[in-house]
Amino acid sequence: MTDTPTLYEVPERVSAGSPSSVPDMNAWRREWLRARNNPDGFWLEQTRDRIAWRKAPTLGLEGSYSTVKDGPFSWFSDGTLNITESCLDRHLEERPDKVAILYEGDEPGAVERITYRELHARVCKAANALSELGLKKGERAIIYMGMVPEAAVAMLACARLGAIHSVVFGGFSSEALRDRIRDCGAEMVITQDEGMRAGRTIPLKETTDAACEGEHSVKSVVVVKRTGSDVGWTEGRDVWWHDVVEPASAEHEAVECAAEDPLFILYTSGSTGKPKGVVHTCGGYITYTSYTHQVVFDLREDDVYACVADVGWITGHSYIVYGPLANGATTMMFESTPLYPDAGRYWDMVERHGITTFYTAPTAIRALAAKGDDFVTKYDRSSLRVLGTVGEPINPEAWEWYHSVVGEGRCNIVDTWWQTETGGMMIAPIAPATPTKPGAASNPLPGILPVLVDKDNRILRGPCSGHLCVDYSWPGQARTVWGDHARYVATYFSTYPGRYFTGDGCRRDEDGYYWITGRVDDVINVSGHRMGTAEFEAALISAEDVAEAAVVGYPHPIKGQGVYAYIVLQPDSESDGGEALEKALNGVVRTQIGAQARVDTFQIVPGLPKTRSGKVMRRILRKVAERDVSNIGDTSTLADPSVVNAIIEGAGLTPPAL
Ligand code: WT7
Repeated sequence: MTDTPTLYEVPERVSAGSPSSVPDMNAWRREWLRARNNPDGFWLEQTRDRIAWRKAPTLGLEGSYSTVKDGPFSWFSDGTLNITESCLDRHLEERPDKVAILYEGDEPGAVERITYRELHARVCKAANALSELGLKKGERAIIYMGMVPEAAVAMLACARLGAIHSVVFGGFSSEALRDRIRDCGAEMVITQDEGMRAGRTIPLKETTDAACEGEHSVKSVVVVKRTGSDVGWTEGRDVWWHDVVEPASAEHEAVECAAEDPLFILYTSGSTGKPKGVVHTCGGYITYTSYTHQVVFDLREDDVYACVADVGWITGHSYIVYGPLANGATTMMFESTPLYPDAGRYWDMVERHGITTFYTAPTAIRALAAKGDDFVTKYDRSSLRVLGTVGEPINPEAWEWYHSVVGEGRCNIVDTWWQTETGGMMIAPIAPATPTKPGAASNPLPGILPVLVDKDNRILRGPCSGHLCVDYSWPGQARTVWGDHARYVATYFSTYPGRYFTGDGCRRDEDGYYWITGRVDDVINVSGHRMGTAEFEAALISAEDVAEAAVVGYPHPIKGQGVYAYIVLQPDSESDGGEALEKALNGVVRTQIGAQARVDTFQIVPGLPKTRSGKVMRRILRKVAERDVSNIGDTSTLADPSVVNAIIEGAGLTPPAL
């Protein structure tokens, strides 16, 4: 490696927040240096120690960020394995009766405990059943489900067959689901009759039926019965999960895969176009999720680990299913929401299950803090040891509340920065070693080489702010975009040639700590959910009344970011732009994207601020949405500068004096 400028100083004088131990931190610092000096050796050692390989790899990284345009780089390429043997089979000897999945359904106390022995049997049965239905190695299966144990079983069953799963979050609409089915050419969809969330049903089968209409790649739809309500049925295509899985054999010989065979595709939003199918591969991904899950959370054999995300997102893949199961942990699956039946639900579960490690998103913490401390303090939280956050920057006030109220001031807080594309955590404290600072993701984990660069791709040193890149690959890194490697290269490796560009802005302080400041591209992060402004705009423009639309994010006290849409109406539109229009437009957004997508603020404008070359100047729109127009910068390149004042006044603000 040429220039490896990452600072990783141990800040002896930092001791804010949680209990910490600088001597431990020095050991981690040596570990980080060891990994930096010999990444291949470091990761080969990790994977051999943690993962059950059929044929152990001898090769580390092949290829690089400079050659990625010619094809994906690889890790461990001469190894073979089936990752479910690491997640299931090998635990049969050491911990067969340990609870693997601790399931809590929508209603408090609706609990199911699935041991490693039972989980192994359920996955084998499902693998036999799916194979019987024709699912083969390399084929794609979409999993469109809520949080039921079968969602994890289905993921593992696909992995056991070497089939590639793509989990689509249960809130996505039929159109979004159809796009994904089409993009990956799925042979199978696994779904439920209905989902359950906060006492309400979600019509998963109905949405699947709408998505599959006219699609010919899908040969079978496997339906888990959750609520038992009547659903439409297509003979010859649809089968009940219980009809095919229950009678199947509980023995199944896992299919041997190459380290670099795809394990799953997960669609994620970017700044342009439709969501991309990010591809993660078997050997590297399972190594990296296992390593980071153990190290960051300081995992212990008797831990009760609860990540309350959804398997529809990468957090659920890496830190509900794959990382924890590879580590033989007890991992929770939670079907409901933090507010059902009331704001005490999480802490009620902590008390009932003796949860030691709890992982959630800042948006949930803020929402719960707003409900008052009583919902927390009335439950016994003495089992808690590590509290994690992920998904968006955590503001220091929320961090302090999590630390002092939830964690009674004695738990380690780990603010973990990572992305769908990184597969696992990248910059995060290591509990209990890292001295923490409220709001900072802290330091890179061993094997991770972040750099901050300016817009000319020059490395910034010392305390500074810049764009966050990573200078060297790690095993958990996504390898490509499904069906479009050129898009992968263009998205991640062309802005700063030779580096992986994360899309995030970041500050590094005088102690070398990293503070993620948020996206610097046109991606908005609402409640930890990543959404592309382009997707919103495409949906809005498709509405009859709308001629043009531009969408930006703005700070929102609970959700992190809210969605602000500027709408130019069609000249012949009869709408007065009131509530009825807003409702209709949000209806369109919901149909095209999903239930999690919603515009918070609409503003009807006479025109968008466009440059003479037709590019929308989003900077101005962001300023207005943030309600700060004191410094909107140069507008002289606009085709029609007068539109700016109209937009500012339309928002009820006063244009700055020129
Ligand atoms: C984007 C990735 C990683 C799983 C959930 C989101 C933001 C994520 C943090 C954090 C500040 C964070 C970044 C990143 N983000 N974690 N701890 N502090 N920002 O995955 O949907 O791929 O989104 O989430 O902006 O780029 P994702």
